[in-house]
Amino acid sequence: MVKIFDLKNIISIKDMKRSDIDYLLDEASKLEDIAQSREISEELKGKLLGVMFFEPSTRTRMSFETAMKRLSGECIGFESSGSSSVSKGESIADTAKMFEGYCDALVIRHELEGVSKFISDVVDVPVINAGDGAGQHPTQTLLDLYTIKQEIGSIDNLKIALIGDLKFGRTVHSLANALCLYDNVELYFVSPPELKMPQEILHDLDKMNMSYTEVSNINEIIDKVNVLYVTRIQKERFGDIDDYLKIKGAYIINKKMLEGKDLIVMHPLPRIDEIDGDVDDTKYNKYFKQAANAVPVRMAILKTLIKNNPK
Ligand code: NCD
Repeated sequence: MVKIFDLKNIISIKDMKRSDIDYLLDEASKLEDIAQSREISEELKGKLLGVMFFEPSTRTRMSFETAMKRLSGECIGFESSGSSSVSKGESIADTAKMFEGYCDALVIRHELEGVSKFISDVVDVPVINAGDGAGQHPTQTLLDLYTIKQEIGSIDNLKIALIGDLKFGRTVHSLANALCLYDNVELYFVSPPELKMPQEILHDLDKMNMSYTEVSNINEIIDKVNVLYVTRIQKERFGDIDDYLKIKGAYIINKKMLEGKDLIVMHPLPRIDEIDGDVDDTKYNKYFKQAANAVPVRMAILKTLIKNNPK
């Protein structure tokens, strides 16, 4: 059977079926050799990606740009609202329409939830959400799933702990939604009481009959899980900095805690202090591999969306 992928935009992981995710992960593994051996393919020669980043980013923007370049495409864009005409008062819709006139697809990061969706409603080219406030970060989730599959072999039947800022962390929102599509996955949510997984996501999980347990102490779950997915406390999303300071450093994973355990440690990065540097040289560290996997996964996304939706 010929596999098809017919989504035009990637806005929320909730828009995807498991077959859509499988399709992109298969494509990514086919592109892995090019990504890892630093080769170039000509698949997107002559195509232009618009990179509209209103919020800071290192990995996401760089890996989208690298992915485009490895496919012989090119990028234009900006890396902060200050360096676009939005700072002069231009509307986001006008800026996006202007980019649409030049580009074959747009990648958007913004501090407000829903901005990528809004832009996808006003332009005709594919739109990719590269993180909208505390909302979703679907392409990070795709590379997270790719990494789990690559490292453990399968995503079904795993016990996965999401740790840290589950309230504001968009990576864990998308990942929790995506894991509902796999069989027999058990989730553990580890956070301070102030930063628990939002009710809206728990409601999504309940609707999908997903098994999850909320705990505040890592020791309750560390012996049970296959994956520790650690996240940063999202300082920039706190209304009151004192609230941040109270819980800063609430969870720190170090080498000693992991000894003798059969698990992998992941993190979308950047890390602040959640994973001690002494974990870096251990077999548990998969977070740098995870960051490298962003390239083949984003190559697969760009290739699929741009080729399926010619201008
Ligand atoms: C994450 C993000 O921007 O949501 N980073 C990333 O894209 N790899 C995580 C974070 O900023 O904490």
